[in-house]
Amino acid sequence: MTKLTAASPIGIFDSGVGGLTVVRQIRALLPNEPLVYFGDTARVPYGTKSQPTIRKYAADDARLLLKYDPKLIVVACNTVSALALDVVKELADDIPVLGVIAAGARLAVEQSKIKRIGVIGTSATVNSGAYQSEIHRIEKNAFVFSKACPLFVPLAEEGLAAHDATKLIAKEYLTELLEANIDALVLGCTHYPILRGAIRETVGNSVTIIDSAEAIARDIKSTLTEKSLLNSSMPCVPLKLLVSDVPQRFKSIAEVFLGVELPDIELVEV
Ligand code: DGL
Repeated sequence: MTKLTAASPIGIFDSGVGGLTVVRQIRALLPNEPLVYFGDTARVPYGTKSQPTIRKYAADDARLLLKYDPKLIVVACNTVSALALDVVKELADDIPVLGVIAAGARLAVEQSKIKRIGVIGTSATVNSGAYQSEIHRIEKNAFVFSKACPLFVPLAEEGLAAHDATKLIAKEYLTELLEANIDALVLGCTHYPILRGAIRETVGNSVTIIDSAEAIARDIKSTLTEKSLLNSSMPCVPLKLLVSDVPQRFKSIAEVFLGVELPDIELVEV
């Protein structure tokens, strides 16, 4: 049995910079929590890969984070949450594991008035039908319209959030969802909140944007509260960032995105 303490870090992982959208929400809600984040920059993107590959990557990522004795593991990747959450849970044993899909689906059902919900994500997430099943588990009469948006991940990784190309591609991907008269749109990939501006411009103000990163931060708080694992004092190292390739590039994108100067990023092998 692992001894979990309040001073232990929360372990978070994603394929690249996307999970920083989750880090940003956790830091806003739980500023005292020490965080260890791993971005698998050597193998991003995950969302175009097959299920066996995604499950292997998920196991590698979980094993890496377990070396830091986390009190909770957050799968800040919808693709892994959809296809390999069980792999992470099995390796984590009695350490709690939270994925982003349950949180995102719940928030979407709560916020959609007419229960016509759009879901965008990687090809792997959309093909898995994970959001659809989770939304229907909560609200069986909801209409779910899904669309894979594979080009959004490289646009976010390249730091092209405000580029005209992003707006053009957003229009290409999202028009059919708008034609289906959705009133809520789930950003079912943690990279997508980075492109929120272009997505908002395309869908207009009548569609509620559901950010699974925002939803999971609240779940983390309740899980830690329930287990009496909330950290009460400021940690010495509030954020430790690990990547599997090109740390410098990750650092510059992360600093722009989180709006703070970051310590050096550690290169690790998975
Ligand atoms: N950010 C991840 C997700 O939420 C993965 C994107 C990718 O690597 O394709 O699905």
